Amino acid sequence: MSAKHDKRSASYNELEAGTKQARPIQHQRGPEIQPYGKIAKLPIALDEKICAASTENLNQILADTMTLRDMYKKHHWQVAGPTFYQLHLLFDKHHGEQDELVDQIAERIQLLGGISLAMAADVAETTMIPRLPRGREPVPVQLSRLLEAHELILKEAHTMAKIASEAGDDGTNDLLVSNVIRTNELQVWFLAEHLVDVPVVREKSASAGS
Ligand SMILES: [Fe+2]
Repeated sequence: MSAKHDKRSASYNELEAGTKQARPIQHQRGPEIQPYGKIAKLPIALDEKICAASTENLNQILADTMTLRDMYKKHHWQVAGPTFYQLHLLFDKHHGEQDELVDQIAERIQLLGGISLAMAADVAETTMIPRLPRGREPVPVQLSRLLEAHELILKEAHTMAKIASEAGDDGTNDLLVSNVIRTNELQVWFLAEHLVDVPVVREKSASAGS
């Protein structure tokens, strides 16, 4: 064996050792660093009890907002009929706006020192919005269900905004009023106008022959 070859063998062994170190360590488990429901307080000039109360309320709004967001995608996919194109697009727009709210609510919970709900099974256990059938429903039913979900969230948001304001949690109050309430109100308008029973082609008072 040449000296050159020996050198390459030694260097190969070194490389092999280095590769071991670079391999990902998989299948790791360990205790949680913060249990759900406990506050890891940050220096934001708010009392821990206020943070805990806001966190609990925001997690309820979060679970309901995630459910409404997912309702929009279900209806985006399953909508049928002459208004398919406009509702298919509108439902996806509202889905995107609800998804932005989800992120804003979840991140407010985290900065309050809490833990935001995240996984579908936990959201399903928490939401107050009734479970939908898996099958396809007609447009008026889709719109009615969406309006009911919006109103449930709006009622919660009004109550929780007042509680946050009285407790001095201005950031939570602002999020609920400026983002959650304003977005949901606007979306209600865009949905509700589709349920006004106006003539599409002929004015009802016009005679059949005219
Ligand atoms: Fe799509």
